[in-house]
Amino acid sequence: MHQVRITRRDALKVGIAAAAGAAFARPAGALAQEIFDMPLITKPIPSTGERLPVIGIGTNAFGVESEEQLAPLRDVLARLPELGGKVVDTAHAYGRSEQVIGRLTEELGNRDRLFIATKTPIRGDVSDPEATLAKAFEALRTDVIDLMQIHNLHGTDVLMPALIAAKEAGRIRYIGMSTSTDDQYEGLMDGMRRYPLDFVQVDFSIDNRSSADSVLRLAEERGLAVLANTPFGGRRNAASLFARVRDVPLPDWASDIDASSWAQVFLKYVVSHPVITAAIPGTTQVRHLLDNQAAARGRLPDEALRREIERFWDNLS
Ligand SMILES: NC(=O)c1ccc[n+]([C@@H]2O[C@H](COP(=O)([O-])OP(=O)(O)OC[C@H]3O[C@@H](n4cnc5c(N)ncnc54)[C@H](OP(=O)(O)O)[C@@H]3O)[C@@H](O)[C@H]2O)c1
Repeated sequence: MHQVRITRRDALKVGIAAAAGAAFARPAGALAQEIFDMPLITKPIPSTGERLPVIGIGTNAFGVESEEQLAPLRDVLARLPELGGKVVDTAHAYGRSEQVIGRLTEELGNRDRLFIATKTPIRGDVSDPEATLAKAFEALRTDVIDLMQIHNLHGTDVLMPALIAAKEAGRIRYIGMSTSTDDQYEGLMDGMRRYPLDFVQVDFSIDNRSSADSVLRLAEERGLAVLANTPFGGRRNAASLFARVRDVPLPDWASDIDASSWAQVFLKYVVSHPVITAAIPGTTQVRHLLDNQAAARGRLPDEALRREIERFWDNLS
């Protein structure tokens, strides 16, 4: 097993947050090595059996320009595979995010340790699908894209034949579709029924479970892998999600799932859904990466505890 070492610098970055369940009494500033000594939790992609670590990263805030802004993102992309993580979700729509990931992975030389997921454009002309795909390969500086997703249903019927052809040619390993809004679930499910998808990506969090009875149910029926986006409620809402628990101590059951922060509880709730393959929390800081990657270790809630977490959340004032 790949050994993960937590440095004193890592520990200082994460503050008191990421101590393993057994180590709650640790002094402030300590990040437990124990949690990273536990086995990495992975789940299979149903169409191939390839296993993915359950916590990746979302990069909709990676569209930066300056060297100063790039520095923390370089740290995040360097540490991700060292900590056991693999899935990096980006999109044409996230400004320069694809270009930033292409440049940084080339500089770091760690492309092969990552599972790069991107998306076709969210708007505009896609009438030349090959040209659309070519831009993604160029921006990401890669010969093979692990997962290409149709973003928010835009141009599905025009783009899908090109995605299927690129998969047959070995240039795209998996194909999928993504959304993050309820009003697109019907269209998404239509695509899930009509096309030979490997993945679907949808919003799901403790505060937003509406995909469970629709998209997730169909994903199970059709044997699709699922990436859960916006697991903290989305970049615009994450602060208010965390604010709801700012003064709330972690309940006793958190230690039963080796969670030592609310972020870990939220992520473990998401990835313990039996149909969800991995969550992609948006992450631009190493201290958040460390916290989130700790959620890919230790125990996950069973069905009974998942219900208890839901009740707990629904009863918060
Ligand atoms: N339609 C679609 O396909 C679609 C739509 C929306 C999102 N997505 C994908 O899903 C990803 C996730 O969504 P999102 O980034 O909007 O929202 P999110 O993952 O729900 O929340 C991200 C926010 O949480 C913060 N955060 C991360 N880890 C934390 C921790 N341990 N403690 C406290 N705060 C933490 C981040 O801060 P820092 O940045 O400071 O670390 C950021 O502000 C996106 O990046 C994107 O890849 C896809």
